[in-house]
Amino acid sequence: MSNEYILVEKSLSLSGEVKLVGAKNAVLVIMASLILTDGKSLLSNVPNSQDVRSMIELLEILGAKVLFDSKNNTLEVDTSRIDSFKVPYEIMKKMRASVLVMGPLLAKFGCAQIALPGGCVIGSRPIDYHLNNFKKMGADIEAVGDSISARVKNRFKPTKLVLEYPSVGATENILMASVFTKGITRIVNAALEPEVLDLISVLKKMGANINILPASSIEIEGVSTLKPIEHKVINDRLEAGALLLASAITGGQIYLPDAPAWAMDLFLFKLEQMGHYIEVGSDEVGVTLKATNSPKAVSFKTGPYPGFPTDLQSPMMAAQCIAEGKSIVEETVFENRLLHVRELQKMGAQIQVEHNRAIVTGVDQLYGASVIATDIRASCCLVLAGFVAEGKTIMSGVNHFKRGYDSLDKKFIGLGACIKLMKIDEFLDFNKIDQFEENFEEIKN
Ligand code: EPZ
Repeated sequence: MSNEYILVEKSLSLSGEVKLVGAKNAVLVIMASLILTDGKSLLSNVPNSQDVRSMIELLEILGAKVLFDSKNNTLEVDTSRIDSFKVPYEIMKKMRASVLVMGPLLAKFGCAQIALPGGCVIGSRPIDYHLNNFKKMGADIEAVGDSISARVKNRFKPTKLVLEYPSVGATENILMASVFTKGITRIVNAALEPEVLDLISVLKKMGANINILPASSIEIEGVSTLKPIEHKVINDRLEAGALLLASAITGGQIYLPDAPAWAMDLFLFKLEQMGHYIEVGSDEVGVTLKATNSPKAVSFKTGPYPGFPTDLQSPMMAAQCIAEGKSIVEETVFENRLLHVRELQKMGAQIQVEHNRAIVTGVDQLYGASVIATDIRASCCLVLAGFVAEGKTIMSGVNHFKRGYDSLDKKFIGLGACIKLMKIDEFLDFNKIDQFEENFEEIKN
């Protein structure tokens, strides 16, 4: 159990202008795709988060040379000395996204050795779509206990692959596995999340031959080699969502000049339905939000893009807890992604759960409590609830917050929020907390 906590206090009218960083769910798969090249690539707009550091560790274990300038958010990756196709067990267990090196390793070496990434609290998160399609392409897969070894006897065959669900990771892994396959590989019912599109733009820069067809199909015509690239990672629509909700829930106003509004349509539509004023910049880049003082509760259902993003479900639920009326939140992507409900109930939220639906009835007031973050996005949800709660909220599970965001607490403080990462010794010394209130007064004025 980490000895860190996040302490949150009531924070009114969070307002200001904030620059975004690159998307975690784009940068991790783009870093994995660099395995397909031989040489030095340069990525910019790279978030300084725990998951990025874990992916750096993985690439170095495979033999890559990595230079991360976390101050300037640039990452240089030299893949010319990658000579291993084995991913250590402890890395796989630390970060599910490690499974995304399997496709590149199979394409480059014809073999890959990983451990089953295992589930997490939001669901069992199997990788059967990945493995079954690698088999269809011509790989032999052997599973012994937790470890998986895959080998392509001759070469991958051009194949038509039908995904029974538009899985983001499976689409990405198959895409990367098929870039050198002679002929046309087609993925039917592919995921086309903005982060998948960013990966496709990187692979095309490398020299891959990829076409997106109507009705979510992707065709890849194999090429012989791919070259190193330079790329600015797409801005994070999930960080943008967190910041917009912080301002919306506290009655503030906020401007995100580089928010990818084009990738956030349904989320922005729902904020407008609540009564918040939303203005989108030219070319659908940039978002301004002016919060309403009487937000209306809205219902929403998560789904594959362009549906409502599952990664904004819990943060958006926090905003429904103090909105007027009833909100029905339906989670259809993961089988167990309502664990934050229990924590919100501790804070006084009125929520009933029926299977994969949460019925939220807005209340006038939430109250600070000691809560546990169960996944990256739940950590954001509980911080947002803490901003409108009477009294102190102490949140454990800070590792999730640090895994998924790059100094989001500092960005919240920049908007005027009372939030602080604390070590347990600090936190056990309660009179420190009173000082904490004093020095927040300084920060705010
Ligand atoms: C990616 O996870 C993201 N992670 C998730 O973000 C995101 O929530 C998810 O896509 C959906 O958008 C990264 O990109 C690193 P899926 P992924 O494969 O690829 C089931 C966050 O908080 N499934 O689209 O694992 C699966 O169990 C994280 O940033 C299978 O059954 O998601 C889930 O129910 C959380 N078999 C559904 O499909 C498989 O082989 C969607 O999963 C693969 C998936």
